[in-house]
Amino acid sequence: MANTFRALWVVENDSSHYEQSIVERNIGDLPEHPLLIKVSYSSLNYKDALSAHGHKGVTRQYPHTPGIDAAGTVVSDSSDTFQPGDKVIVTGYDLGMNTAGGLAEYIRIPATWAVPCPDSMTLRESMIYGTAGLTAALCINKLLQAGAQPEDGDVAVTGATGGVGSLAIAILARLGFSVAALTGKLEAAERLTGLGATKVIDRNSLDELTDKALAKPQWGHAIDCLGGDYLFSLVKSLNYGGSVAACGLASAPDFKGSVIPFILRNVNLLGVDSVELPLEVKAGIWEQLSQDYKVEKLGSMAEEISLEQVPQYLDQIHNGHALGRYLVKM
Ligand SMILES: NC(=O)c1ccc[n+]([C@@H]2O[C@H](COP(=O)([O-])OP(=O)(O)OC[C@H]3O[C@@H](n4cnc5c(N)ncnc54)[C@H](OP(=O)(O)O)[C@@H]3O)[C@@H](O)[C@H]2O)c1
Repeated sequence: MANTFRALWVVENDSSHYEQSIVERNIGDLPEHPLLIKVSYSSLNYKDALSAHGHKGVTRQYPHTPGIDAAGTVVSDSSDTFQPGDKVIVTGYDLGMNTAGGLAEYIRIPATWAVPCPDSMTLRESMIYGTAGLTAALCINKLLQAGAQPEDGDVAVTGATGGVGSLAIAILARLGFSVAALTGKLEAAERLTGLGATKVIDRNSLDELTDKALAKPQWGHAIDCLGGDYLFSLVKSLNYGGSVAACGLASAPDFKGSVIPFILRNVNLLGVDSVELPLEVKAGIWEQLSQDYKVEKLGSMAEEISLEQVPQYLDQIHNGHALGRYLVKM
């Protein structure tokens, strides 16, 4: 095994300027945790773009290697949880936040952060899903637990062309739901219907609802990646008894709301977190993604890029230009 490896490296030059480059690092400089993994694939998520652009709510200290996702092969594990050669998936917890992340050829982490890659899934497939797929599945499970059924009406998905949105559309369609994709990129309509959306709607149409206490009911349920007033516009346009799974803040973290939709329409606002989820729950979701929720055209949902291309793509994601999933081959 080599002593050095390539990694994305983000340096803070002054309080407002962060520079990304690919550097050689020493394996000995990785954090002192028991599980050393040779990374085969990583993926790009919105949070990686935030980390690479100096958002202190994600990463407090620089220089830093982002990457909240990694899939690879165990090199060694002093906790004896895994054997050398085991294929594992790591998402969330502190990976890529304040612990050197998956946009590198090696990571060293607590063994309690890794799950075995399901037998019926390749490492490559696991990273096409990545945190985005895990989160899409969690949102759908929350809706199902709240009683969602295909007969309830369209499920609205915001941030439709992004990672979570695209995978949520594909899985919902597989489960027999009709999906309304809300997007700021109407030029991507064909791509969205190809994933399984039955309607493609300009997300700006939600803006008209911002100042209303209640809007015409139009969605059975919803999955929201945007937060801000988009989220509450969805809440007030749900059919009676509908639910919104809220997982993101690509637009904004806060919104103006009232209790009116909750007490007149009996609707539910459901929170979704993929980061601190107990490991056994994560393992169960990965099994679902490899079987009941398996996306048929998964390969066509991702663009494969190299580590060298990561800085350019993280800039695009940071600017809201994400389109589907970005798979990083090490
Ligand atoms: N809760 C969790 O555990 C969890 C896990 C994963 C992700 N997330 C969050 O979920 C959100 C989506 O993640 P992702 O990985 O899917 O991100 P992504 O791939 O970057 O996609 C985000 C999408 O949101 C829309 N968008 C971006 N900026 C926007 C803006 N300023 N205003 C309105 N729409 C905007 C765009 O879609 P359109 O152009 O199609 O509208 C974009 O493609 C992020 O906020 C992320 O932090 C949370």
